[in-house]
Amino acid sequence: MDHGIDYGQDAPGLMRGFLMGGGVAGAVALGMFWLGAGLWGMIAAALCGVVALYLFGMGSFMVFESRIGKVRDRNALLASLPWRGDEVVLDVGCGRGLMLIGAARRLTTGRAVGIDLWRAQDQAGNSAEATLANAGAAGVADRVSVQTGDMVALPFAADRFDVVLSAWAVHNVPEVSQRHAALSEMLRVLKPGGILAVTDIEGRRDFQDALRALGAQDVRVEVLHPVKDRLVGALSFGTFAPFTVLGRKGRI
Ligand SMILES: C[S@@+](CC[C@H](N)C(=O)[O-])C[C@H]1O[C@@H](n2cnc3c(N)ncnc32)[C@H](O)[C@@H]1O
Repeated sequence: MDHGIDYGQDAPGLMRGFLMGGGVAGAVALGMFWLGAGLWGMIAAALCGVVALYLFGMGSFMVFESRIGKVRDRNALLASLPWRGDEVVLDVGCGRGLMLIGAARRLTTGRAVGIDLWRAQDQAGNSAEATLANAGAAGVADRVSVQTGDMVALPFAADRFDVVLSAWAVHNVPEVSQRHAALSEMLRVLKPGGILAVTDIEGRRDFQDALRALGAQDVRVEVLHPVKDRLVGALSFGTFAPFTVLGRKGRI
């Protein structure tokens, strides 16, 4: 279904760092075993081996999540939302179009708009052109447009979108107050009764509280893979805890 589409690698520098670190630690471990430097040398080699496995595992997991896990999770999330086909949809921090293209496939007369700052450190090969090329490969270019803009000050009028989506983007805004500003902007541009669905890897409790404080209704959190995510959360020292927070803009 996603043949010919490259949604890119998240945090490519971090992913490369894990894999290269794993390679170095593995080479050191093998070298120490080969030199056979006594009991303490063997213990040090074994420790290096564990570090190598950990770093390789984390790097490989990042590749898996970007290429396979996120696409599956996107499909599950979008399948759970009610679609008419005429919605106007916004994907905030769209990157190379994961949510944007998934939503556009569910539209008939509707339109999907992506907004991003195209930061290369957050997404490999990040550009408006790459996103539009993916939309073309998916056969939805006629329903998709992209804009350059900052999520903390969305360049759209209030009450414009039926659905606002965002995947793994809000955590890239460093300041918590600015993340709240981004959530506030997403609610502002939603039509009353419109659906908000924000998927991310950190801020589960904080995003819920912020959305409730901003007046969002029916706020709830979905965790798709509780066991796997708990394991990876522990292995990543709490830096990776994926969730989706869903809510609606209240009708006044
Ligand atoms: C990890 S990527 C995820 C991209 C895409 N949503 C996906 O899931 O494949 C995060 C995206 O957020 C964008 N981004 C970061 N800060 C942003 C900001 N302040 N405003 C808009 N986009 C931003 C980055 O450029 C990047 O494309």
